[in-house]
Amino acid sequence: MKNITIAIDGFSSTGKSTLAKQLATKLNYIYVDSGAMYRAVTFYAMQNHFISKNEFKIEALIAKLTEINLKFKFNPELGFAEIYLNDVNVEREIRTLAVSELVSSVAEISEVRKMLVEQQQEMGKNKGVVMDGRDIGTVVFPYAELKLFMTASAETRAKRRFDELIEKGDDVQFEEILKNVQHRDHIDTTRDDSPLIKAEDAIEIDNSNLTKTAQFELVYAIVLEKLN
Ligand code: CDP
Repeated sequence: MKNITIAIDGFSSTGKSTLAKQLATKLNYIYVDSGAMYRAVTFYAMQNHFISKNEFKIEALIAKLTEINLKFKFNPELGFAEIYLNDVNVEREIRTLAVSELVSSVAEISEVRKMLVEQQQEMGKNKGVVMDGRDIGTVVFPYAELKLFMTASAETRAKRRFDELIEKGDDVQFEEILKNVQHRDHIDTTRDDSPLIKAEDAIEIDNSNLTKTAQFELVYAIVLEKLN
């Protein structure tokens, strides 16, 4: 069977990564969570005091970008790859609300985007990849054979993220999660460099009322058509 590139873009908490992992497992493809890369750079910037709620030393971060080494290592127990920042597994640390609150500001910086997009293109150069993010179908893989654009209402998405964080034991309020989701939607769709937009040839999927299984079945049928 031929290998294709599957690009999944969409707003925060639209279930992109769940769908991407399901597809990668079923097709035996590589799954790349591009958001994890932006989150890891943000975590690095926080650790080095380049960014906080009150200030952002953009030039200082740009000067240190060459010292950031990101790697994905497949974890067979979890069934997907975890991200390592300078050889340390930061999968847990990058998913906190503290990182979510700052990541879209870091993702606006063109130097950061250029570095990460190059790495993403390298990871996908042999196809057989499912990548999710905000600019995958528009910038990273404009020639992807299949592009999906996922949407759901802000409330539905905030509820999903809230449940996830509570499950992990984080102490968060629904209102702050909703605010974060709306704030990131705003920055991600209005930034100058690679804003989140639906690629012309992307298939839009509103999954507000779809179960994970129903969504997977719907998309897998489309994938099979592309493979034939
Ligand atoms: O939390 P969620 O799953 O919604 O987001 P994510 O995929 O982990 O991405 C976190 C943030 O990284 C987004 O809100 C964007 O600001 C940024 N991002 C981006 O700019 N481009 C990408 N390809 C992926 C993420």
